[in-house]
Parts: sequence; structure tokens; C-alpha cells
Amino acid sequence: MSRKIAIFDTTLRDGEQSPGASMNTEEKLVIARQLIRMNVDVIEAGFPISSPGDFKSVAEIGRIAGDSCTVCGLTRAVDKDIEVAAEALKTAKRPRIHTGLGVSPSHLYEKLHMTEEQAIERAVHAVKLARNYVDDVEFYAEDAGRADQDFLVRIVEAAVKAGATVVNIPDTTGYNMPWDFGARIRDLRERVDGIENVTISVHTHNDLGMATALALESVRNGATQIECTINGLGERAGNTALEEVVMAIKMHEKELDAHTDIVTKELTHASKLVSSITGINVQPNKAIVGANAFAHSSGIHQDGVLKARDTYEIIDPADVGAAGSEIILSARSGHAALRHRMAELGYTFEDAEFEQVYQRFLEIADQKKEVYDEDLESMVQERQREVAAVYTLDALQVSCGDPLVPTATATITDEVGVQHVVCATGTGPVDAAYQAIDQVVAVHGDLSEFSIKAITRGIDAIGEVTVRVAAEDGNVFTGRGSDTDIIVSSAKAYVNAINRMIQTARAKAGK
Ligand code: KIV
Ligand code: ZN
Repeated sequence: MSRKIAIFDTTLRDGEQSPGASMNTEEKLVIARQLIRMNVDVIEAGFPISSPGDFKSVAEIGRIAGDSCTVCGLTRAVDKDIEVAAEALKTAKRPRIHTGLGVSPSHLYEKLHMTEEQAIERAVHAVKLARNYVDDVEFYAEDAGRADQDFLVRIVEAAVKAGATVVNIPDTTGYNMPWDFGARIRDLRERVDGIENVTISVHTHNDLGMATALALESVRNGATQIECTINGLGERAGNTALEEVVMAIKMHEKELDAHTDIVTKELTHASKLVSSITGINVQPNKAIVGANAFAHSSGIHQDGVLKARDTYEIIDPADVGAAGSEIILSARSGHAALRHRMAELGYTFEDAEFEQVYQRFLEIADQKKEVYDEDLESMVQERQREVAAVYTLDALQVSCGDPLVPTATATITDEVGVQHVVCATGTGPVDAAYQAIDQVVAVHGDLSEFSIKAITRGIDAIGEVTVRVAAEDGNVFTGRGSDTDIIVSSAKAYVNAINRMIQTARAKAGK
């Protein structure tokens, strides 16, 4: 059996330190329930002395957690902090006090104004005091990533002797390279007396985008607890993202000789929940939980994924509770992707017809960033209502505005292939376009109805126009047209109705 890596979630403490992420107790409880469902080992529920709200959250989360996980409260190495945390944690079945202080030269001399010896004394006192209240005490050596390593060894050893059960080695400022941080962990393992009896935890920040790499390198060097947050929330650039370390360990269990007990199918839900509660959106290209994590956009990738998912996906989306691989249809999509999506929508085409469909798809894709299912449906319906065209609208240019006179220039090809370029003015842009079309077509129709609706999503939605045009004999013909430009839709609908009118007349005349 590989080593168990404990997942210490600090979304509710360090994560809440993200600007704008503050949560009330109710919201924290919702997230805590999700963390319990995911089977995290430790929930850092807050910093009890910092506010009555944090105190309450720690107490309430302690109450709901029961035996399912350890509940932890943060303190400085200050008596009052520790006493208040102990009070808040009384409700917890498995309480942990997380106490410590800065250990780098910058923290010791510039922030705390302490000598190394004074810091060791303070750490020992804090750990002993905390042990008076709870059996499980985690000592953090803040800014260990920039500390003098010999001093780090001494203070960690002193904390272990004083009764710490877990030692937390943070790269508080996200300064380290993975290999340097890994070496620090290995060195602690080799040099700290008694370290084999405690858990080595790592708490890494993402200022250089290295948080996940540092955590994994630490696991390779003996750490067995990772402190992390959902979506990588946290102070400044954030903390190690829980979903990233959990999935990286799962994918590389053998080489890391490590596993976690996290229910990975809950990861996507947890991410969405935290994002909706904090109001902090997840970047679309975020590993594991971003909206694009399983979306394929290039034609080559789409073709590969449709043949075999693992050509471009290392994780089965179902493993993290994501909806599934997604093929994004855009101008970069190839035939395979369009054919596949059309088949999913229930449309199949012979090769020659499919080529026409694909060309029309490219025209739409050139006008839109993304082609949705509704766009495809509308495209198919447009084909289904096509009648043998007597006239085809090739181009339409309209100028209008206030106080401009609406003017339309239409280019129309007739059935013998002659192209007509005509220009007309009207009461509005649609009227101008219709007047221009009327100059070419051989029949006259009266527009009796005009309606327009958006049939797809977004500002670049396709608008569908339906017109009813009465012929001189009183028969009424329906025409439809769709385009991202509603004036073009209107003109297409009118030409469509005219074509029907002419074809019906020809059919009646037996031509
Ligand atoms: O980043 C850090 O060092 C911390 C400690 C309080 C553990 O958040
Ligand atoms: Zn931190």
C-alpha cells in the first residue's frame, strides 16, 4: 500500500484571505459539508481570535464534522490566540491547534524583532500551551522557504520536542524552486531528531506558479500532508490547488508511492460551489476544474479525441465529476467534429451533401466565435426549406441611420447565372433591401407579415426572419431566412418567399 497523503484544506482560512473572498458562517458551513463529502483529512476552519465570525465558524464546523475529519484553528504563537482557539474547538471531536511564527531573517528581525533564541523559546511555549488543551498540535514555521536551514532544523526540532504532532513547512512567499524546497524537506527528515514520529506538512503559495510543483516535490522527499485550497484560492497568488495535487497524486501514484483518500468525483462540484459562494471565477483554462479543462478546439485535436479520448486527454472527465469531453465547434473545427456533432443531434448526410453543410458551417463559424447546437439546428432547417433557387442573394450592403436615407445595394444572381447589382432607397433598411430585390425579380408580391426572433445565444446570435408575401392571385407564400445580420436575414426571407411563389406558379403551369 502506498503512503497516505493527508489533505489539509485551508479554503476557509487562507482561501478566505483572497481579496473579496470573505464568507459568512452559513457559507462556510456549506463549503465545510462539501469538504467532508470529499473526505478531506483536515479542515482549517478559521482563525478564531481574528473575529467573532471566525470563532463561530470554527465552533460550528467542529460541531458538524464529528468523527469525519480533524478541525483546525489557526493561532499566532500568542497565549490569548491559543486560549481562544481552544475554546472555539471545544465542539470538535478531533480538534487541532495550528500555531507558529515567522522564522526567516525578514520575519524574525523586521516583523517580530526577535532573536533566533527568542523565537525558539516562543515556539516551545506556544506548542506546550496548545498541548494543554488538545492532543493534536501543528507547528508552522512561517516563511520557512526563506529561512536559514540550520535555524529551521533547530526550531522544528524544538517544536517536536515540545509536543507538536505535525510540523508545517510553508513557502509563505512562494519564492522557492521545487528542487530547493524538496531539498529542505529531505534535510529536515535527515537532521531533525524525532521527526519520524510527526507528520511533515507543506503549505506552499503560488507567487511563481510553483505551488503544486513544490507540494509534489515535498511528497517525493517525505512530506505526508499537503495544505491546499479549492481553486487555489488564498493570499496573493493563492495556495496550492487541492484539485491539482489530488489529481497529480492519483495519476502518478506509483512513482510517488502515495495516494490520497479524496473522492475525486466531487472536485468539479466543489470548485463550482466555492466559486459561486466567493464570487471568484475560475479561469477557463484552470487545470482540472476550468471550463476548458476538457474542451477541444483545434480540428486536429477534435479528430484525435473523437477517435480515442486519450489522444489529447489524460484524465477521464467523469473521474473529477465533469460533464464530459467537449468539442467546441468553431472555424478551426474539421469535418470529423462537425459530422460527429450533427450525428449527436440526429442529422446524417451523404458525403456530397455533407460537404455543402460543412461549407455553410464555415461561413457561420467565420461570423461567430463558437457555433452552438442551435446554430446547427437553424442551419439544417434553412437547408430543409430551401427550394430550387430562381434567385440567389449573393450580397447586400445597407446604409442607414438618422438622418441618412436608408439605401440598399443588392447583388442577385438569377437562374441563368446573370448577376444583377441594384440599388434602392426605402423607408428603412429592410424596405430599401426589398425595393432593391423587387427591381430584379420578375414577380410582384405584397409583404403581409414580418417577424424576427433570435434563435441562438449571445450578441452574435443568429436572427431568423419569417415573412409572408401575397402574390397577385391572392396566394400567400412563407419565406424564412437566417443570418447573424438581421437585415440580411430579412432579405434572404423575402427572396425565399419569391422563389416559392415562382416555383409554385411554374408547377401549376406544368413547367
Ligand atoms: O503562508 C503561511 O505561511 C501561512 C501560515 C499561517 C501557515 O498561511
Ligand atoms: Zn499561507
